[in-house]
Amino acid sequence: MRDVTDNLIEQIDDELEVTLRPKRFADFVGQKIIKENLNITLEAHKKRGEVLDHILLYGPPGLGKTTLAGIIANEMGANLKITAGPSIERAGDLASILTNLAEGDILFIDEIHRLNRVVEEILYPAMEDSVLDIVIGKGTGAKSIRIDLPKFTVIGATTRAGLLSAPLRDRFGLTHRLDYYEPEEISQIVKRSSNILNVKIKADALEEMSKRARRTPRIANRLLKRVRDYAEVKGDGTVGLNDVLMAMDLLAIDELGLDKTDRNILVTIIEKFSGGPVGLGTLAASTSEEKDTIEEVYEPFLLQIGFLERTPRGRKATVAAYKHLDIPYLQQGGQEKLL
Ligand SMILES: Nc1ncnc2c1ncn2[C@@H]1O[C@H](COP(=O)(O)OP(=O)(O)OP(=O)(O)O)[C@@H](O)[C@H]1O
Ligand SMILES: [Mg+2]
Repeated sequence: MRDVTDNLIEQIDDELEVTLRPKRFADFVGQKIIKENLNITLEAHKKRGEVLDHILLYGPPGLGKTTLAGIIANEMGANLKITAGPSIERAGDLASILTNLAEGDILFIDEIHRLNRVVEEILYPAMEDSVLDIVIGKGTGAKSIRIDLPKFTVIGATTRAGLLSAPLRDRFGLTHRLDYYEPEEISQIVKRSSNILNVKIKADALEEMSKRARRTPRIANRLLKRVRDYAEVKGDGTVGLNDVLMAMDLLAIDELGLDKTDRNILVTIIEKFSGGPVGLGTLAASTSEEKDTIEEVYEPFLLQIGFLERTPRGRKATVAAYKHLDIPYLQQGGQEKLL
């Protein structure tokens, strides 16, 4: 159940996210290959004095897509304009954004998979030939006019690259997939954030938190905030291992970082559907979660740690998931398999 406190917490977390967001490549931990590639691309374009190619960033939520877009703009010394797929409803909305761009500007389109078709069709020629084709008037009196646009860069971000139409995908010169972070990288991020927030944290506490952050920087920062609150109220202000364990217990986050919803999804598959396969729609209805939320937020990490399998007939829980949840795994003959 959401209430005012949830909104308040979200607002504070949003502010926190802005403070902690790295502004330069040097502060952006991990994603080594992407950073190397982007650095070369940026340097080459700067040297030639060219406007940067369009870049598509994709990957699960909270891994740094928006952050990278900001860093690219900073490093290029370019203006960054930010918008999102769902907020560009009509062709005219996009036309007004595009006609307000200057040469070399970067237009960041978040959730680009949610652009509607009419808007997408305006975007194609704008990205490819820097022109805007608009139709003025209606019916037989309608006239199509073409306006030249300055050369600009689109950075698109999406959690669902598979939902992008092929023509849109083809217009990006560069595509980078962000991956889950290594545990040491998450530790580094927590350390950096705790320095910025002036939080003292012991080594074993840091390690424990990093294990529970789902290999995701945004979650690592959120956990740090919650743990800091806990240590301030219940402890002596320095975050120790016990503060982490107690705070995680209160948040019902287990030692792998799974929360109530993750466990509910797995337990539902196992107990209501004999381990699966079960279709996404059915799973959503039985867990009272949105289909999109399961697919975009929960499933990627459960797949990543090998607790979930996607088959043509639906989602299946793996033996590892049974083991983690302490549920006996029954083989087809009904024999309990020793784990
Ligand atoms: N590589 C990184 N190093 C340090 N901090 C990071 C890194 N990546 C992300 N963060 C932190 O995590 C937060 C979330 O990152 P960001 O908003 O860029 O994720 P996102 O991929 O855009 O997520 P979404 O798909 O939900 O929009 C940032 O505010 C930043 O503080
Ligand atoms: Mg983002």
